[in-house]
Amino acid sequence: MKLSKYSRYMTFDVLIRVAADVVIVNVAYLAALVTRLLWKIATDPQISAQEQLMDAVQIYGATFWVLTLIALAVYCLSGLYSRGRFYQGRFKMLVIFQAVSLIYVVFGFALYLALTKGWRELFIPPPRIALFLGWFLTLAATAGVRLWAMLWRRLMSREAPALRVLKKEEGIQHVLIIGGAGYIGSTLCRQLLSQAYSVRVLDALLYGDKSLAGLKEDPRFELLEGDSRDVSAVFRAMLDMDAVVHLGELVGDPACALDEKLTLEINLAATRMVAEAAQGCGVKRFVYASSCSVYGASSEISDERSALKPVSLYARAKIGSEQTLLALNGPDFHPVILRLSTVFGHSFRPRFDLVVNFLTAKAVRDGEITIFGGEQWRPFVHVADVAQAIVLCVEAPLVSVKARIFNVGSDEQNYTINQVGELIHGIVPQARVVNVEGNGDRRDYRVSFSRIRRELGFKARYSVEDGVREIHAALMDGKIGDYQDRCYSNYKTLSDPGNHLTIRSRHINALYAPQSQATESVEDAVGPS
Ligand SMILES: NC(=O)c1ccc[n+]([C@@H]2O[C@H](COP(=O)([O-])OP(=O)(O)OC[C@H]3O[C@@H](n4cnc5c(N)ncnc54)[C@H](O)[C@@H]3O)[C@@H](O)[C@H]2O)c1
Repeated sequence: MKLSKYSRYMTFDVLIRVAADVVIVNVAYLAALVTRLLWKIATDPQISAQEQLMDAVQIYGATFWVLTLIALAVYCLSGLYSRGRFYQGRFKMLVIFQAVSLIYVVFGFALYLALTKGWRELFIPPPRIALFLGWFLTLAATAGVRLWAMLWRRLMSREAPALRVLKKEEGIQHVLIIGGAGYIGSTLCRQLLSQAYSVRVLDALLYGDKSLAGLKEDPRFELLEGDSRDVSAVFRAMLDMDAVVHLGELVGDPACALDEKLTLEINLAATRMVAEAAQGCGVKRFVYASSCSVYGASSEISDERSALKPVSLYARAKIGSEQTLLALNGPDFHPVILRLSTVFGHSFRPRFDLVVNFLTAKAVRDGEITIFGGEQWRPFVHVADVAQAIVLCVEAPLVSVKARIFNVGSDEQNYTINQVGELIHGIVPQARVVNVEGNGDRRDYRVSFSRIRRELGFKARYSVEDGVREIHAALMDGKIGDYQDRCYSNYKTLSDPGNHLTIRSRHINALYAPQSQATESVEDAVGPS
């Protein structure tokens, strides 16, 4: 268990960083010995340069491996190859300063021990000035390389849009996101804009539009407030678009169970209408966010060809929409279905009705991780990785995605809820784990993600621990107030009688009702002026 916890960090990226650090530590040490040698030759003409060189080579040969082992151990323990990825700016530099200083203190101590034990033959001790120089050069090079990598990444992310524009030429430029103000949509908007797409959002703003703050000034961004059931709003939104990403539905089992008729209207009928509108407007690429909850309750590891065993209206509506979209596939319409794992992580519209986010917030704020049942399996994926998967589908050659279904997540991130509790406990150890027997949630599924990995090269970049740390930081920084506030929960927001959805629902009824009734309904909805 412990081993697998650390083996997840042993990615190719990490191995490259380990190799780079080994090289830096050794080059700095060697440079320190050579500098000291040159200084001695320059200041003492009596000295034999050849002898001094032999000495330096002997010292390096006898001690470099001790220094390398100490450096790797200290870097690992300082988290430079794991959580250190999330350290920023001055804090990262402080961690590096501490680590390099510790390496040289331990190295000096090891040499001193070797001397007192009389192992002089084995360890030829380097002069003290070389140790000091080695510390300084290692510090400068380790911090410098990381600083350079950070600046390079920033520079590239600024240049990326321009590079993309050149690359795309006649490809997809304009993307409509239905439901773009939501948890996933608000992250996707930023990802697409940073990659030089222009983005239009059609959203009923059931949870407000704060998530899009800061985007409205961007000339490549446009927000249309409207309902996916409103044909004219949908056609207006489709104009001049090259691709549609459909995220605008009622989300979650409890939220969908509130008003079954409304759920079927939005999650089934409107999705069909939106797809037909896309077809009618010549928008060929249509990415639809389905859910792995279509696998329902299954003891097998499910892949895209497995039998579906939905246990909720939400999942049944997803299956219905998938079938509708696939049936519309043809020369002028190409649906891509993404079955998303349960999403976690911080976003511009945070949700605390999702299990990882909720349990983390509960651990941080209430000191308790309450697990209901716990043995049920679930696959997980970070919200930024979902956005990445959607962008991949927008950019992939049509032939490799049209009429295809892809599970979105990673094989390593299938966890039981108990395991999720353990992961959170590892990061918030002061919280106690409370197991409550029985579990109303019948969903229990493990999923294979080999298709999206193999065919689209998708790889999740964030682990559940990364998401827990992110939520933990957002709570500690005060970015999140009361995590139980209704704005963070779809069910709580939609079950409020005065909510936006009720208004929307009446508004839509009004659109189709005879004129006199329509006026009445709208007035009913908004109250006296
Ligand atoms: N979050 C998850 O864990 C998860 C998992 C699997 C699948 N999905 C799917 O991903 C999609 C997005 O999920 P999310 O987590 O961002 O949800 P969300 O509830 O945060 O966002 C949904 C957005 O759609 C909008 N919307 C709802 N009904 C609309 C309508 N009739 N017309 C226009 N806009 C409407 C809402 O205002 C909201 O901004 C959904 O289709 C969901 O089923 C999400």
